[in-house]
Amino acid sequence: MSDGPIIHLVGARPQFVKAAAVLAQAGPRHQLMHTGQHYDAALSDVFFQQLGMPAPTWHLGVGSGSHGAQTGAMLAAIEQVLLAHPKGVMVVYGDTNSTVAGALAAVKLHWPVVHVEAGLRSFDRRMPEEINRVATDHISDLLLCPTQGAVAQLALEGLGDKAEFTGDVMLDLARTVAPIAASEDPVGRFLVTGEGPAPAPLDVLPPAARRKGGYALATVHRPANTDDPAKLAAIFGALADLPWPVLLPIHPRTQAAMARQGVAPPPGLHLVPPAGPLPFQALLAGAAKVFTDSGGVQKEALFAEVPCVTLRDTTEWTETLEGGWNVLVDADPAAIRAAALAPRPTTPAPIAAYGDGQAARLIVAAAERFG
Ligand code: UD1
Repeated sequence: MSDGPIIHLVGARPQFVKAAAVLAQAGPRHQLMHTGQHYDAALSDVFFQQLGMPAPTWHLGVGSGSHGAQTGAMLAAIEQVLLAHPKGVMVVYGDTNSTVAGALAAVKLHWPVVHVEAGLRSFDRRMPEEINRVATDHISDLLLCPTQGAVAQLALEGLGDKAEFTGDVMLDLARTVAPIAASEDPVGRFLVTGEGPAPAPLDVLPPAARRKGGYALATVHRPANTDDPAKLAAIFGALADLPWPVLLPIHPRTQAAMARQGVAPPPGLHLVPPAGPLPFQALLAGAAKVFTDSGGVQKEALFAEVPCVTLRDTTEWTETLEGGWNVLVDADPAAIRAAALAPRPTTPAPIAAYGDGQAARLIVAAAERFG
């Protein structure tokens, strides 16, 4: 048993929501470290405000850069903090550059490393996240898995004795945040009551679409889609041609790629600023369908029981595909349209594959047992 801090390392948007759910169950030994991978207020601060997260004990301010430069800067900065403290536990989340940097810095200093969301695989080595997942799993000491499929995958890789099933912490979050989004967030309240003027970002939609099921929601930020102008234009063209107007909260990476490559959104596709977690949850719950290349949004759609169309040719979240609740279409306009027109799945959404919404408590207990 060590007496150092249990450090929860975050850096990018999807990690803030996971750590928020875990820290809500944790005592004072648990502290937050923010690498600064995401630094825009719309990608970072708003998550802390809306999810009631404690301010980070350490903010490393690393910012953007090439993969090597960014990961290297994080490694050096994390190491400095760890060296200044008695040995504790490092908890890392998901598959970003912050994840792999945190795991590597800690393991080299013999800090035990706990990986939350371990065992996921897309088997697509062109995705930086796939490299980050595989590397992090193989250097971590405890592998906490969101699904039984992830536990089985780790066993195949010889890591079975380090793997434990906790369920998916994003389900914990969906269960707590969805009711708040529906009642307290202006977007959610409007979609439930229809009273008063439509708040942003619903106000950019044609008036008839400003209702539950009247619009579709999209997110696009993967380099494989954003950094190929033909692919990005094909996705935008297909989205603009759906039976509903489409809201697209735009990631800064995508915005920059559009400007660089001269890709403009066609009419019918409404670009809006990135949404914080509460309005995003409300927009998702009100959408007819969701179109995304994100990992986390595929599950958020499932938990909200909104059919999802994934703009990739692989997914690490294979359980979402059951019963047609999620469909892989890559950037193929005909496939995007066919999936958009497909009827709503008739089987129940396979949510139970992701546990019972109590993952945060199990993650806290596992980290404490380990350190
Ligand atoms: C990262 C994760 C990805 C995750 C996503 C969530 C990696 C390899 N990728 O991708 O898995 O799904 O976060 O959003 O870690 N930028 C800003 N402001 C910011 C942050 C970024 O303008 O606050 C711009 C910069 O131009 C930057 C680019 O976005 O170069 C990409 O940011 P980066 O953190 O490198 O990757 P993401 O695409 O956000």
